[in-house]
Amino acid sequence: MWSRRSFLRMGGALSTATLAAKAVDGLSYVEAASAAVADRSPEDVAQDEFYWREIQEAFTLDRTLINLNNGNTCPSPAVVQNACKRYMDMSNMLPVHYRSDIERHMQTIRRGLAKEFGFDEDEVALTRNASESLQIVQNGLDLQPGDEVITTEQDYPRMLTTWDQRRRRDKIKVTRLQFPVPTTGDDLYQRFERAITPQTKVLHFCHITNLTGQLFPVQRLCRLARSRGITTIVDGAHAIAHFPFKLRDLECDAYGVSLHKWLLAPIGNGFLYVRRDSIPKFWPMQAVPERQANDIRKFEQIGTYPTAIRAAVGEALAFHQAIGAERKAARLRYLTLRWANALKGDPRVKIHSSLEPGQTWGLAMVGIDGVDARALSQFMMDRYRIVINAVVGGQPPQQVFDYSGLRVTPNVYTTLQEMDTFVEAMQEVLKKGIPAATATRRGD
Ligand SMILES: Cc1ncc(COP(=O)(O)O)c(C=O)c1O
Repeated sequence: MWSRRSFLRMGGALSTATLAAKAVDGLSYVEAASAAVADRSPEDVAQDEFYWREIQEAFTLDRTLINLNNGNTCPSPAVVQNACKRYMDMSNMLPVHYRSDIERHMQTIRRGLAKEFGFDEDEVALTRNASESLQIVQNGLDLQPGDEVITTEQDYPRMLTTWDQRRRRDKIKVTRLQFPVPTTGDDLYQRFERAITPQTKVLHFCHITNLTGQLFPVQRLCRLARSRGITTIVDGAHAIAHFPFKLRDLECDAYGVSLHKWLLAPIGNGFLYVRRDSIPKFWPMQAVPERQANDIRKFEQIGTYPTAIRAAVGEALAFHQAIGAERKAARLRYLTLRWANALKGDPRVKIHSSLEPGQTWGLAMVGIDGVDARALSQFMMDRYRIVINAVVGGQPPQQVFDYSGLRVTPNVYTTLQEMDTFVEAMQEVLKKGIPAATATRRGD
């Protein structure tokens, strides 16, 4: 089994000062730990707590709280935080000089993302988040009154609101499909196929949803759409750096991502991928000269922005690669199965996510029959200091669905003890219910 002592032995030639500097960032420890387990399967390493201890120590967390809401935004490891501060200091030495310098070298970041996630560097625009990425293409497509967009009731609220605004402004038709959870790729495919009409111009759906992690058959839907001349916009906010895949294999026209989720980049980072031959059909958010019509950079024209935050994506990518996409996905799945297998035998426990291999990694949802999800989330905080969010359906233009529960999103730094504390908390509620004081102070 991997241990820090073995790394210290390997690094015997290094000076104490060098080791101390490395310890501050932690990246070298992660790289060495991964090198030491390179000959083992990701599923085997997923269960090696010595290995994951090295990863946990690369963060500067508040362990008085248990963070099971990584689906919102994730903490960056120290190496990323330090890079961000470094670039910020640099920018402030003489902004017009150094900030522009950093900006000029940003191609390195685009190239790195392109290599890791499977596309060409001239098909990616760096943005501030998935909302910005997706709204660029949602609002940037020419649509006539009566043209139809098909999406789902479980797409992200801001993206649904964007289509709703276009409905009001441009008189387009927006069709929102419902589906049960968990469901199959075949079911989702058939729902879209049945819904397509001659007026359909866009299919917009998640790679995996933010609610239950429902996985969509992206490539099949994109091929279907392409065969009918329909544009595809895929919401990948929760997919990139969560489980391994190559973006070009999905065959979509546009794909929007947040990098402050599973890539662990500083908050305020995302990217927009647009397939090369689809770039001309989307207008950018802010105007550009006509000669830029075919240039992916047109989507980055937002004026002055904080280059330091963006430049630190490079270290987030290095950290992701140091763990390895397969090992990370296997660990996230292991953590999810840890709580799900412990709870699923109770007939009152409702798991709204598929536990089948290849369907779920670090995002899944669970409810307890007869227990209000918001009260349950409040109980988790009050009694166990667990930060976790309640998922409850709303009214249009928000998401509409008829299930509720807690969305459980651990991360690479989550310990087994933290996962087991969540199980213990759920078991307490199953046994004793929620104390009246919590139930009436739900905090919603
Ligand atoms: C599915 C999905 N799409 C889009 C977004 C928007 O991401 P951001 O807030 O980073 O713009 C989120 C955020 O949680 C999401 O879960």
